[in-house]
Amino acid sequence: MGNYVPFLILCYNELKYFYESRVIVMQVMHAASAISHAKAILIGEHAVVYGQPAIAIPIPTVRMQVELKPRADQQQRITSAMYNGALTAAATTRFAGIATLIRQLLIRFDAALQGFDLNIISDLPPERGMGSSAATAVAVVRAFHAAYAAPLDHAALLRWADISERIIHGNPSGIDAATCSADRPQWFVRGQKPRSLALPHTGVLVIADTGIQGQTRLAVQAVAERLKMDPASEQLISGLGLLTRQAAVAMADDDFKTLGAIMNSAQEKLAALGVSNHPIEQLVASARAHGALGAKLTGSGKGGCILALAADGSSAATIAAALTQAGATETWQYDFAK
Ligand code: MEV
Repeated sequence: MGNYVPFLILCYNELKYFYESRVIVMQVMHAASAISHAKAILIGEHAVVYGQPAIAIPIPTVRMQVELKPRADQQQRITSAMYNGALTAAATTRFAGIATLIRQLLIRFDAALQGFDLNIISDLPPERGMGSSAATAVAVVRAFHAAYAAPLDHAALLRWADISERIIHGNPSGIDAATCSADRPQWFVRGQKPRSLALPHTGVLVIADTGIQGQTRLAVQAVAERLKMDPASEQLISGLGLLTRQAAVAMADDDFKTLGAIMNSAQEKLAALGVSNHPIEQLVASARAHGALGAKLTGSGKGGCILALAADGSSAATIAAALTQAGATETWQYDFAK
């Protein structure tokens, strides 16, 4: 027996270490909730995928909220406008990207078997260029970190959000998650830390929904294919980059006439890239005919929303009414002065 004593002590120590380390890493989920919000790309969508700059604006009034509550059993249940049911059954649904993100978060918190109810309450229309998937990812990541009282810096938040964005969008630049988690307009260049931009002092953006689902993945793929078939289209991408730089100067100078003209030029280039369509063109034309200083699609295009620049609140109200008349299913306003 004497020969076994050192071996038994070793086993005891190993087991004790294993048990204690489990005690350290096993964490308790608490009820938590977190928010994020919509975004609108002022200029630079699509070109931003290829390294050009883009300017995007957070829209905090259009909110996404995620509530997370632990359950005593091991059921993992999701309630949302997009998907209702068990996490395990989401793999083949439109919720698959967010479901993968949730599974990765559970692994991070050593909680793969933790039961929970996750409720997503969203003001954002899905697939309309307002960042619904990125806003969901941001709020989910925040909710899990809050539930485990874990620190989360902004760079880590964006890395987490990229997990679902890659699955949903294929080749995301990261601008959507950066803006859905920001409180200032963003100057965004892929792979670089986003920078906050100063807002103009006046002017109102009117966002209008065509009511048609855009599909970011397909739109981004279509542009990639176009660039492969016709390398000369690269000029459209660099042209959009130049317009974005000019837009930043116009914003800093409160020069809305120039900013509007720049938005119109960007719309021409996006249409030439093949991501506009008839409903977008109709709303853009209506906004311009009713006093918009400029108008263009926002986000991936091929449906989704348009963005119109109005000089002031009363012009914005006229444009919004005209857009509704022209078929917009919903409109929102973002006042630079507020
Ligand atoms: C989508 O909101 C914006 C795109 O430029 C794609 C991206 O940057 O990931 C179309």
